[in-house]
Amino acid sequence: MPLRHLITLDDLTSAEFRHLIGRATQLKTLATPYEPLKNKVMGMVFEKSSTRTRISFEAGMAQFGGSAIFLSPRDTQLGRGEPVEDSARVISRMVDVIMLRTHKHETVETFAAYSRVPVINGLTDRFHPCQLLADMQTYFEHRGDIAGKTVAWIGDGNNMCQSYMQAARLLDFQLRIACPDGFDPERELIQAAGDRVVISRDPRVAACGADLVVTDVWASMGHEDEQTVRREAFREFRVDAALMAEAAPAALFMHCLPAHREEEVSADVLEGPHSVVWDEAENRLHAQKALLEFLLC
Ligand code: CP
Ligand code: NVA
Repeated sequence: MPLRHLITLDDLTSAEFRHLIGRATQLKTLATPYEPLKNKVMGMVFEKSSTRTRISFEAGMAQFGGSAIFLSPRDTQLGRGEPVEDSARVISRMVDVIMLRTHKHETVETFAAYSRVPVINGLTDRFHPCQLLADMQTYFEHRGDIAGKTVAWIGDGNNMCQSYMQAARLLDFQLRIACPDGFDPERELIQAAGDRVVISRDPRVAACGADLVVTDVWASMGHEDEQTVRREAFREFRVDAALMAEAAPAALFMHCLPAHREEEVSADVLEGPHSVVWDEAENRLHAQKALLEFLLC
C-alpha cells in the first residue's frame, strides 16, 4: 500500500472522508475487542498543549492493541534544534505512525516528506483536520448527511475555519463565514473553496437559517499576546442565544473546545439544547481510530 498521510483534509477524497465518518460510528458501537494495531506504536510530537488530541490518540492506540509515546520538544532533541528532517527519518524508523501538533504547518509537511510511516496533523497554525473528522461524524450522527446543508462559522478565520473550508468542498455543504475585517482565512483557500464558501462581517447574516453553527476561541494557541486586541475586534462575534435564534430551529452548535464561556460563546448556548460539544469531543476518539485503521491496515 502506498504511504498515506493526513496533513490536511485535501489528502482525502470525498468518498474516503465519508468512509471514515461511517467507520467511526461503527467503531463506536463495537461490542467485542478489536485490536488491528497490536504491537504497533504511535509517536506523538506536541509543540503545543492538548487535552483531547493527546488523550484520544493515546486511548485509541491502546484500545487497538498498540501504544503511543508522548514526545515534547522540551524533552527531545527537537527542542534543541535537531532538524525536523533528521528527526523524521529517525523517529519514523522506530514507530509505525506519527502525529504532530506544531506551530508552523510547514513543520508537519517537512516531517511527512522525510517520514517512512504515515504522518497525521494534530493541529497546526493553518489546519486541524482531525477535529473535522469528529465534527462531521457528530453532524452525521445527529442529523444525517451534511450535503446541501448550511454551516455558519462565527469568529476567527483560523486553523479550524480553514479545515471547515476544505470539508465544505469535500462533503458538499455551504459554509458562511462571519469574521471581523482583518481576520479572514487565507485568500488562496477562499479562492480554492469557490462557491462553497461566502464571507461576511455580520454573524446574523451567516447564522440565518443555518443547520450548524460553529465557533472557536478568538485567540488561538500562539496568539495569546493578542488577547486584548482580539477581544475588542471580536466583540460582536459571540455565539449567544440571540444568534442561535437566527439559525434553523434544529440547528446544532459545535465548538472544538477548549471554550471560553462569555467570550466566543455564551454559557447557555454551550450547555443548551443545540449544543453537541460533548459528543463532538468524544468522537475525536472514534474518528481517529477510523483514521488509524485507514492509514495502517
Ligand atoms: N479540540 C482540540 O484539539 O483539543 P485539544 O487542544 O485539547 O487537543
Ligand atoms: N484554534 C484553536 C484550536 C484549539 C483546539 C487553536 O489553534 O488554539
